[in-house]
Amino acid sequence: MNSALAGNTAERAHSKPRVVLGVTGGIAAYKSCTLLRLLSKAGVDVHVIPTPSALEMVGKTTWEALSGNPVYTRVTEGADSVTHIRYAQEADLIIVAPATANTLAKVRWGLADNLLTSTLLAATCPVIMAPAMHTEMWLDEATVDNVAALRERGIEIIDVATGALTSGDIGAGRMLEPEELADIVLERLKATRDFEGVRIAISAGGTHEALDPVRFIGNRSSGRFGVEIARAALRRGADVCLVAANVSADVLAGAHGAQIRRVESALDMQAAMREEAGSADIIIMAAAVADYRPSQAGETKRKKTGESLQIELVENPDILAELAAHRGREGQMVVGFAAETGDEKASALDYGIAKAKSKGADVLIVNEVGATTGFGDVDTAITIVNGEGKILSQAEGSKSRMAQHILSVLRERIN
Ligand code: C5P
Repeated sequence: MNSALAGNTAERAHSKPRVVLGVTGGIAAYKSCTLLRLLSKAGVDVHVIPTPSALEMVGKTTWEALSGNPVYTRVTEGADSVTHIRYAQEADLIIVAPATANTLAKVRWGLADNLLTSTLLAATCPVIMAPAMHTEMWLDEATVDNVAALRERGIEIIDVATGALTSGDIGAGRMLEPEELADIVLERLKATRDFEGVRIAISAGGTHEALDPVRFIGNRSSGRFGVEIARAALRRGADVCLVAANVSADVLAGAHGAQIRRVESALDMQAAMREEAGSADIIIMAAAVADYRPSQAGETKRKKTGESLQIELVENPDILAELAAHRGREGQMVVGFAAETGDEKASALDYGIAKAKSKGADVLIVNEVGATTGFGDVDTAITIVNGEGKILSQAEGSKSRMAQHILSVLRERIN
């Protein structure tokens, strides 16, 4: 592990796994206080979202005191108006305990009438639900049908235990004990942290090649894709260094928790990446590096002459090809990007495959770009190819989903 990172407790603290604990209106809600405590003790950052009826069982003050985080129940509450989206994006895992028959039914049908159901609808992380209800409700055809549909969709529904119920009856319907639930959550979390102990150096943004002290040649890269990869890698437990070329502060905020090195030009980036290559297990060159730079950058602002102007450009080093040819560590994986446009001679993918073969990288992510596609906060279609140009995977979606997908493909290829 990089010593600078290890020494920075604020950065390390942020990469704590984050769990949303949804609490619905069952008597077993009190047991979730113990579940919360067990998870916190294990180093998990827990955010509680009770449904309005759950607050009649255990109050907001208790949840806030136990979790150390603010507690909301409605979508309109919170620091911003998209609390549910933030929760859904930032959670590594959501557990609903207890899950009432009512909430199971709502989630099955995609209702979003409170903060918890809205968050569940927007979530892409693993979801566990621990039902608790009276036996007749558990065995009712509607609930059986809802549970089957939710399981089919990939939601983990914990089987209820048999024992004494609130009604005084004995039967199936008890929520699993908090200790058992905590073990399940921690085990599932471990699986989501599949980059624990892996050091990744990622370049992002677009380089600026100086013409004079105030002007430069640049490109349209926002750096968002590299930042999304950094963010996903951090959440999966990696130590991340982001070498950021001219990435705006609001985009860069997405990689909070990464070690950030700011650079401007291709030569700056080359120097930073060379240094990082010494300690990285994986190098991802997501930056748009200028192929050329002005041969001379004037020390003073260039004056208008009334004549046409010729600027001589010299070729920049190909950082990716260099890092691929001279590995900083044994077994290091080098990943490049090919932002391509197709033309009448060949498709974007054909150009990407040709690039994969020429760069010497182990993996190349090919994505088609144009004036309105590929840049900034838009969906993207990617094809992942290996160094021989063989297609490993194709996918399409938001940059954050694609970042997760890329990491999963890389994960399969590292030992
Ligand atoms: O050759 P091209 O610029 O299309 O290749 C793209 C890939 O190579 C990206 O991963 C980019 O970060 C990297 N690159 C580089 N050095 C350059 C140009 C591109 O590392 N001078």
